[in-house]
Amino acid sequence: MQAQPDPTQQANSSQLGIPQHVAFIMDGNGRWAAQRGLPRLAGHKAGVDRLEGVLEFLANKGVKYVTVYAFSTENWNRPAEEVQGIMELLGDALQSQTQALHEKNVRVRHIGRSNHLSPELGRAVDHSESLTENNTGITLNVAFDYGSRDEILEAARNIVRDGVPADAIDETLFTSYLYTAQTPDPDLIVRTGGELRLSNFLLWQSAYSEYYHTPVLWPDLDEAELGKALDAYQSRQRRFGKVSPNSQA
Ligand code: IPE
Ligand code: IPE
Ligand code: MG
Repeated sequence: MQAQPDPTQQANSSQLGIPQHVAFIMDGNGRWAAQRGLPRLAGHKAGVDRLEGVLEFLANKGVKYVTVYAFSTENWNRPAEEVQGIMELLGDALQSQTQALHEKNVRVRHIGRSNHLSPELGRAVDHSESLTENNTGITLNVAFDYGSRDEILEAARNIVRDGVPADAIDETLFTSYLYTAQTPDPDLIVRTGGELRLSNFLLWQSAYSEYYHTPVLWPDLDEAELGKALDAYQSRQRRFGKVSPNSQA
């Protein structure tokens, strides 16, 4: 297991630097399409196309981990045609983008359930992960068929299966059983599309994340808005339950 960085290291600095890990709830694809009189899938396609620019912008800023919420465990409840279309978009994106991501030294990881994906999609995910696993640039976690409650339950089941004694279950051990075991907690969570909720995303990992939301729809998320998100993060003071250094006499 990879050691988790100590988030409290930043607690006393008055000016935060670039977040190490930025996670996105990529919302608003459907509304983006509706605004243009297009089918919802055209919005999802535009959403996939937006990802490359976002990743490049953040990599250039020095961000090390990016997590994108692409499909939730609840999104299966959408019309079958939309679900099928999103599955195909992911397959196409993996096929057309994996080599380019590899050449940019990006490490691609899937977080979420694998056993509900078609065998073909599962193989494409495995190929993308194994081709890029030794890359040392930015890590892109794709949360697909991801639900935080599912992740927590699966961790609990695996801890029991492994016969871990109750007294040995602490935060470090529990974290090591999550899909995100290889990734530090998100410093900044950005939600596009205007809603103010987590929608079952990284519930455990976001305990001390900073949160930024914007009405901008995901396919319209540009560098100016990304810059605002980073500026907002840098103006925050992370206390992790401690007393602010400025309030100490
Ligand atoms: C986010 O966009 C992508 C997924 C949830 C798959 P939406 O499809 O939720 O877009 P809106 O919220 O309907 O605009
Ligand atoms: C959250 O968006 C999930 C993803 C972005 C993949 P939703 O559109 O599914 O969230 P709700 O239903 O508005 O909470
Ligand atoms: Mg939505």
